[in-house]
Amino acid sequence: MHNRSLVLATRNPGKITEFKKLLSGFDIEIKSLADFGPIPQVVEDGATFDDNAYKKAHFTAKVLGLPALADDSGLIVDALGGAPGVRSARYAGASATDAENIQKLLADMEGVMDRKAVFEAVIIIAVPRGPALTYEGRCEGEITHAVMGENGFGYDPVFYYPPLKKTFAQMSPEEKNRVSHRGKAMSEIRDEFDKIMIWLQNRLAEEPA
Ligand code: IMP
Repeated sequence: MHNRSLVLATRNPGKITEFKKLLSGFDIEIKSLADFGPIPQVVEDGATFDDNAYKKAHFTAKVLGLPALADDSGLIVDALGGAPGVRSARYAGASATDAENIQKLLADMEGVMDRKAVFEAVIIIAVPRGPALTYEGRCEGEITHAVMGENGFGYDPVFYYPPLKKTFAQMSPEEKNRVSHRGKAMSEIRDEFDKIMIWLQNRLAEEPA
């Protein structure tokens, strides 16, 4: 077995694809929850992206006994007082689909002139015993009046990025990764990945046998 692995603490196929692309080329085996049997789900009831990302990363690391990377992210819309925020995935209800969340967002934004929004991402790498590293990224844009584009996931079809004059769903995965909240946080992680590997080795050496 590869002696260096990192588990992506997600089952979201869109995120798994993005993370694997962003971490390709490093001497580490990237796994995800999809590679393991069922493990209990973390309740994402934190008040901040940071709380939720830490909960997911630490819980996964503890249960699987491997370092884990988790992100928590969401869309913050000024005119909606910061909603959907930490509730982005469940904005239209506990098991809402992306299409239902988008529909609710567009309905809530009907007639609203101020369309400013920001995507935020917090990425945490944790080891089983608890210590963790935190990275953050954000991307400013505007909420469209209708869906545009077919790529990506979540709110991508309604998040317009003015510098490229496209929604996230109109961008290729590479284009989106260069400018997105997660892409920016990940590029920081890539830039210091050698240091992260050393940090991981040192932390794992401190784990009880
Ligand atoms: P999480 O899986 O708890 O981080 O939920 C984040 C939710 O925010 C997702 O289900 C999407 O609805 C939304 N979201 C986060 N990042 C993106 C993105 O890059 N594009 C579109 N929607 C996103």
